Amino acid sequence: MSRPKVLLTRRIPSSALATLEAACDVDRNEGDPLSPDGLMRRIRGKQGIVCLLTDAITAEVMDAGSELKVISNVAVGYNNIDVPAARQRGITVTNTPDVLTDATADLTWALIMDITRRVSEGDRLVRRGAWKGWALDFMVGNGLRGKTLGIVGFGRIGRAVASRAEAFGMNVAYSDVFATPGSGAIPIDRLLATSDIVSIHCPLTPETTHLINQASLARMKRSAYLINTSRGPVVDEKALAWALKNGIISGAALDVYEEEPAVHPDLLTLENVVLAPHLGSATTETRTAMADLAVRNVIAVLTGQPPITPVP
Ligand code: DGY
Repeated sequence: MSRPKVLLTRRIPSSALATLEAACDVDRNEGDPLSPDGLMRRIRGKQGIVCLLTDAITAEVMDAGSELKVISNVAVGYNNIDVPAARQRGITVTNTPDVLTDATADLTWALIMDITRRVSEGDRLVRRGAWKGWALDFMVGNGLRGKTLGIVGFGRIGRAVASRAEAFGMNVAYSDVFATPGSGAIPIDRLLATSDIVSIHCPLTPETTHLINQASLARMKRSAYLINTSRGPVVDEKALAWALKNGIISGAALDVYEEEPAVHPDLLTLENVVLAPHLGSATTETRTAMADLAVRNVIAVLTGQPPITPVP
C-alpha cells in the first residue's frame, strides 16, 4: 500500500518531523511562506497538509488539492482556513488546543506586567541614555491589587489567564458570547466600563472583527489598559492608536496585529503601547507540543483513525 503524501508548509521541530516522515511521504517547504500559487501547486496529489496560521487555506487551495483529506493547523486558531469550504468537501480540519493554553496565559500576564509597570518603555529609555537616576516620582506605573481584570472570551486561555489573577490580588469579570444565563458572565459593555485591564481571548470571527473599536474604547476607563493576545483584527488598530494618543485609555499591550507582520504606523510612535511579535505560544516546550499534536492529527486521519483534536 502506498504511503500517504503530505505537504508541510514550514519548518517544524525535528522530533515531529521524524514522526511525520516515518508515516508519510513529506513534501517539505523549508523557505519563506508559500504564496497562494505555490500552495496550489504543491498541494496537488497530497492527501494531507500540515500548515501554519500564515497559510491561507482557501476553497481554491482545497480544489487544487483534490485528494485532500485532512488540513492540520499548527495553531489553536484556525481563521486562516475556510472551515465551511472544507466541510463541504469532506475534508477534516484539526487544530492544536490545550497544549498552548499555559504559554499564552503566561505571555498575557507578561504583557499586563510590562504595560502597567512600564518595563519596555523603561528599557527604551535606558538604552537611549536618558536615565538620570532614581527619583520617587520617576516612571511610576500602576499596581494591580484590588483592581478588576475583564476577560473577553472565557474559553481555555481566558480561564487560564483568570486563574493567575488571584496571585496578583485582582478581581475577575468576564464576558463570553457562549456563556449560559446565570454563569456569571456580564455584558461586554459593562465589562469595558468597569475593568482596569481588558484582556481579549475570543476567536476571530465575522462577529468579533473590530469588536474593539472607537466606540468600545470610549466606554473604557481612562485609566484602563487593553491587552490582546488573540487575533489582531479583533482590535481596530487605527481606533486604538487614536485612543492611546488622546488619553481615552492609559495603555495597551499587543501580541497580534491586523496585517501581521505590519503594525499600524501610529502605534510604532507611541510610548504607552507594548508591541510583541506574536509570541503567545513561543516556548520550546509548547511549539514542540503543537507540532507533535498537528502531526499526530494528520497521521490519525490518513490511517483511518478519528482526528485527535478536530475543530469544533
Ligand atoms: C495560535 O495557536 O492560534 C497562536 O496564535 C499561535 O500559537
